[in-house]
Amino acid sequence: MAIAEEYRRQFQWRDWGGAFAQLPPLAGARLLDLGCGIGQLAGELAERGATVVGFDGNEELLRAARPHPRVELRRADLAALPPLDRPADGIWCSFVAAYFVDLPTLLQRWRELLVPGGFLALIEIDDLFAHEPVAATTRATLDRYVDEALAARRYDFRMGRKLEAHLRAAGFAPERSFVLPDREFSAPGPSDADVIAAWRARLERMQLLQQCAGAGFPALRDDFLAALARPDHRSGATVRGCVARAAVPPR
Ligand SMILES: C[S@@+](CC[C@H](N)C(=O)[O-])C[C@H]1O[C@@H](n2cnc3c(N)ncnc32)[C@H](O)[C@@H]1O
Repeated sequence: MAIAEEYRRQFQWRDWGGAFAQLPPLAGARLLDLGCGIGQLAGELAERGATVVGFDGNEELLRAARPHPRVELRRADLAALPPLDRPADGIWCSFVAAYFVDLPTLLQRWRELLVPGGFLALIEIDDLFAHEPVAATTRATLDRYVDEALAARRYDFRMGRKLEAHLRAAGFAPERSFVLPDREFSAPGPSDADVIAAWRARLERMQLLQQCAGAGFPALRDDFLAALARPDHRSGATVRGCVARAAVPPR
């Protein structure tokens, strides 16, 4: 299945309504969706009355977006966004922060895109692979992969717990921190077949995990997927969110 189709399907497993309920009023707001993928969240924000400009670096995903009259999608690197005509009232950024290990530096730049007092909403997973019970060898390989990704500054799998601290470090004032239920990442008990299929596809996409596990990858994959299906499956992974305001400069 193409990645755009995977994203479209994953949408239903998230508690987006719960996340939107944490945002300031959206009617008439001018928003940015940073790392917008196929633009589904931009579309949802627009349905709630906002005008949204989405940025993403992946042309294939942008091409798969469904048009919305109040959404404009543009291709750009989030670390080097083009200047805007006018500052935005708010920024939405879901499942993107973990790509930026040095997140505070990036957030400082994004703060410049906002009106004083504008908001930034970050949503990110914490501890994606924290599903049990798995074999000790599976856990050791997953821990090594997570540590290597951080050491190489590729990805921070424990970003969810750091959102609030990173926002503060970048000059934002966090207003609301929350945990969202999620059928794919954090629901305990046996996962549904469609969720397990999505996990299989995700593991198969992770080339660097495959390199890290070497010949042990098929056993790791099968062990992890079996854990998801078990009645005693438990998850330490969480989907976290934080809504913060760009500090208003003193007069
Ligand atoms: C996991 S997806 C999240 C998509 C969407 N925000 C959502 O919540 O479903 C991460 C997105 O971030 C984009 N992305 C990651 N790093 C980026 C970068 N440096 N510049 C632009 N886009 C980036 C990817 O192309 C991808 O669409």
